[in-house]
Amino acid sequence: MAEHIPLPDLVSLQGQVALVTGAGRGIGRAIALRLAEAGAAVAISDMEADTAESVAVEVRGAGGTALAVAADVSDEAAVKSMVRACTDELGGLDVVVNNAGIFPPCPVLGMETAMFDRVIAVNLRGVFLCTREAAAAMVERGAGGAIVNVTSIDAIHPSMVGLAHYDASKHGVWGFTKNAALELAPHGIRVNAVAPGGVLTPGVEEMGGGSAEAVRAFSARVPEGRMGDPDDIARAVLFLASDLAEYMTGAQLVVDGGVLLT
Ligand SMILES: NC(=O)c1ccc[n+]([C@@H]2O[C@H](COP(=O)([O-])OP(=O)(O)OC[C@H]3O[C@@H](n4cnc5c(N)ncnc54)[C@H](O)[C@@H]3O)[C@@H](O)[C@H]2O)c1
Repeated sequence: MAEHIPLPDLVSLQGQVALVTGAGRGIGRAIALRLAEAGAAVAISDMEADTAESVAVEVRGAGGTALAVAADVSDEAAVKSMVRACTDELGGLDVVVNNAGIFPPCPVLGMETAMFDRVIAVNLRGVFLCTREAAAAMVERGAGGAIVNVTSIDAIHPSMVGLAHYDASKHGVWGFTKNAALELAPHGIRVNAVAPGGVLTPGVEEMGGGSAEAVRAFSARVPEGRMGDPDDIARAVLFLASDLAEYMTGAQLVVDGGVLLT
């Protein structure tokens, strides 16, 4: 029989360092706030330096520890210095959430090669670069770790026409998650994924999904009757990042209000 660990200890990230990419707004911001609430010192990383800084200020205002790091996850040199900033300034790296992602809708027949390449570079190459650099730091430290990749229901089934590049990237991240989980398990590093359904974020608003009409139309497709809130995703990420999920690796949690069932 395993030792009984009290629930607050299982969910706590006290004494740990977490890195969240794309954390300046939307789902990434919500994840950073929950990981900080669970006690982690959080590196708030985003391509946009000012939004990363404003989320870091929010975390500090709530009594947490946060470091803002400006980095484009598709840029190898930037990812290396981002991971170095975590280890040098926050003292280590225990949890990495690969959340940064883009989803510009475009039909395949009208898609420029540059757009396809950019989506793959941010959504898939970015996850590879951040995982490689972070896992190397974790292996060197020898204390294990947890990596959570934010995929999408589009890693399983298309949600709409015009996202072939995005769906390719997210299917790729899910495949990457499983193989990396296999490789990193002997080092005590767990690698899992969270697949959100439609979540109301600034990114979704920018693609026209935030109007009252769009929200009503999407909500009507969801068995739970509403779009997701960024915090719905943050809770699942916290679960996978924490010792609550100690025996989970290579898994993908779908958090979509049931929409994939329809
Ligand atoms: N919102 C949804 O409905 C939904 C559904 C499924 C999956 N997702 C996934 O969740 C993640 C977050 O989505 P969101 O809706 O919060 O998006 P969002 O556009 O609201 O926020 C994304 C953040 O990532 C940052 N970012 C973009 N490109 C980057 C790069 N190259 N390097 C570093 N940071 C970068 C942006 O500056 C922004 O702050 C994405 O991976 C997305 O694919 C979202």
